[in-house]
Amino acid sequence: MAGGIFKAFLWVTAAMALAMAEGARAQLVPCYFVFGDSVFDNGNNNDLNTSVKVNYSPYGIDFARGPTGRFSNGRNIPDFIAELMGFSDYIPPFAGASPEQAHTGINYASGAAGILEETSYHLGDRISFGKQIQNHQTMIMTANVPLEKLERCLYTINIGSNDFLNNYFMQGYNYNTSRTFTYDQYAEFLIGRYRSYLKLLYVQGARKVALFGVSKLGCTPRMIASHGGGLGCAAEVNKAVEPFNKNLKALLREFNTNFTDAKFTYVDIFTSQNPLAYAALGFTETEKSCCTVESGKELCAANKPICEFRRRYVYWDKVHSTEAANMFVADSAFAGVNAFPYSLASLAIL
Ligand SMILES: *[C@@H]1O[C@H](CO)[C@@H](O)[C@H](O)[C@H]1NC(C)=O
Ligand SMILES: *[C@@H]1O[C@H](CO)[C@@H](O)[C@H](O)[C@H]1NC(C)=O
Ligand SMILES: *[C@@H]1O[C@H](CO)[C@@H](O)[C@H](O)[C@H]1NC(C)=O
Repeated sequence: MAGGIFKAFLWVTAAMALAMAEGARAQLVPCYFVFGDSVFDNGNNNDLNTSVKVNYSPYGIDFARGPTGRFSNGRNIPDFIAELMGFSDYIPPFAGASPEQAHTGINYASGAAGILEETSYHLGDRISFGKQIQNHQTMIMTANVPLEKLERCLYTINIGSNDFLNNYFMQGYNYNTSRTFTYDQYAEFLIGRYRSYLKLLYVQGARKVALFGVSKLGCTPRMIASHGGGLGCAAEVNKAVEPFNKNLKALLREFNTNFTDAKFTYVDIFTSQNPLAYAALGFTETEKSCCTVESGKELCAANKPICEFRRRYVYWDKVHSTEAANMFVADSAFAGVNAFPYSLASLAIL
C-alpha cells in the first residue's frame, strides 16, 4: 500500500519536473530506432493487407497531422521519447522511409506483430519482430551507417503482447501454444526467441536498449470483456504475463553481464497500472474505451462519437492507450521511475 502511494507520488513528481524541463533541449542521442507492435507503430501497417490499421478518423484526433496510423488519439510513446531526447521531429515509419533516414532513426514497429512469426496470422499481414530486425539490417547497410554511430543510438522495443492476445489466449484459430505450454514454459519459449533477436540487434550495434515489459493485458477493455466476464481485470491473463516480464528482466541482466559495453534497461508498465497511480494522475476512466467500438471489435469505429475528456481515459480503444497515458509512461521511463537499472535519460548520456 505504502509502496503504491510512494510510486504514484514519484510518477506525479516526475511528470511535473519533466513538464518544466520541456522546451529547447539539445538532442541527446544521434539516432533513435523503434521496434515493436501497435503500441509503437506509427504507420507501418497503412499499406499492408490487414484489419489492424488505423489511418482513419477518430485516430489522431489530437495529433497535428491527423490520422497517421498511430494507435491512439495523439502521440504514442516513441513520439514522447523522441521529444524528450530533443529530436526536432518524430521518428519516421519504415514504410516510405529512405535509407538515408537510418542516420537519424526509423520506426519499424507494426501492429499485430509478435515475437513468434505466426502470432496474429488470422488478422492479416504484419511485420514480425524478426522481420523488423531484418529491415533494420537492410536500412543501416544500404545507408552505410557507421557502427560507431549505431552504438550511440537509442533503441526501444515493445513486443510480446500479441503473443498473448493474438496467440496464447486467442480461441477459435489453430494456435496451439496454450495446449503446448504452461505460463512459465511459454515465457521461457518466448524469451528464448527474444534472446536470439536481441543478439542480432547487438551485433548490428545496439548498445543503449530499453525493453518494455508487457502491460496488464487482462485489464484492457477487450480482455475484461472476453476473459474477465465483463467484471474487471482478467486475472488469468495478467498471471500469464508475469513470468514473461520476470524472464525479460533476467534476459537484460544477462546482456548487461555478458557484454560490458551493453546498457540494456527494463521499462515496467505492468506495476504502475494500479488504481492509486491512476487516481494520482487524474485518470477517472480506467476500464472503458474513449472511442466508440462496435461489438466484438477492438479498434475504434470510423467517424463515430468519442469521449470529450480524453485526458481522463486510460484506454482510447479496447486495447490501446490514450495520449495522456502514453505521456506518463514515456515521462517516467525517461526519469527512471519505472525503468531500471537505467533511466532513458541516463541511457542516453552513459
Ligand atoms: C488480403 O488478405 C485476405 C485474407 O487473408 C485475402 O483473402 C486477400 O486475397 C488478400 N488481398 C490481397 C490483395 O492480397
Ligand atoms: C504448433 O504450431 C506451430 C506453428 O503453426 C508449429 O510449428 C508447431 O509444430 C505446432 N506444435 C505442436 C506441438 O503442434
Ligand atoms: C551469457 O553467458 C552465458 C554463460 O556463458 C551464456 O549461457 C548465455 O547464452 C549468454 N547470453 C547471451 C545473451 O549472450
